[in-house]
Amino acid sequence: MEGRKLPIAVFVSGRGTNLQSIIDAIESGKLDAEIKLVVSNRSKAYALKRCEKHGIPYEVIPSKKFKTHQEWGEALIEAVKRSGAELVVLAGFMKIVPPNFIEAFENRIINIHPSLLPAFKGLDAQGQAFDYGVTLTGCTVHLVIPELDSGPVIAQAVVPVLPNDTAETLAKRILEHEHRIYPQVIQWFAEGRVRVDNGKVVVLGAKYGTLPFNPQLERF
Ligand code: GRF
Repeated sequence: MEGRKLPIAVFVSGRGTNLQSIIDAIESGKLDAEIKLVVSNRSKAYALKRCEKHGIPYEVIPSKKFKTHQEWGEALIEAVKRSGAELVVLAGFMKIVPPNFIEAFENRIINIHPSLLPAFKGLDAQGQAFDYGVTLTGCTVHLVIPELDSGPVIAQAVVPVLPNDTAETLAKRILEHEHRIYPQVIQWFAEGRVRVDNGKVVVLGAKYGTLPFNPQLERF
């Protein structure tokens, strides 16, 4: 449909540089989406300042306000439904999303993780990769399933580990690629090109295997 913007909700906990990359891609006209709501589990998240600056509605919904994970999940479901968002984008959301929430938005929740999954799941994936001594790492956007940092892969970007890297310089280089691939994946959703087939994601029309790095990327 001409001019349609995909309504999305973005979940954050911290500094929100991925949120910013989505805002920038929307504002520059590259990404056909509209952020209907930002949800944070922390009232002090710097990401909320970014919302204020750009006039984006946000809600703080901390898990500790609820007796059970289930009730927290219900509050999250209610907030997203009320916002009209059709895709939930986890962008540095540092809490495990409740199973009832995942069920309510099956195949409509995506996450970005700073490693080439399934390697280096969990916290400080960049430090894990650095300490292990791999020569290539990167970032992954995937569909969210109840198991942490798992779920069908949608896009990955490969980032080399350089001889003089520290865990910090490596994390910074990976982040630049996160800021590129996350808006691209959301754009694929906006274009209705993401399909799940037998537990694997297929992106209709993506140019696989044409470049040494990041072969799927088109706009970003
Ligand atoms: C990113 O490295 C992302 O991959 C991970 O959490 C971090 C969030 O950073 N899931 P930011 O808040 O978007 O700056």
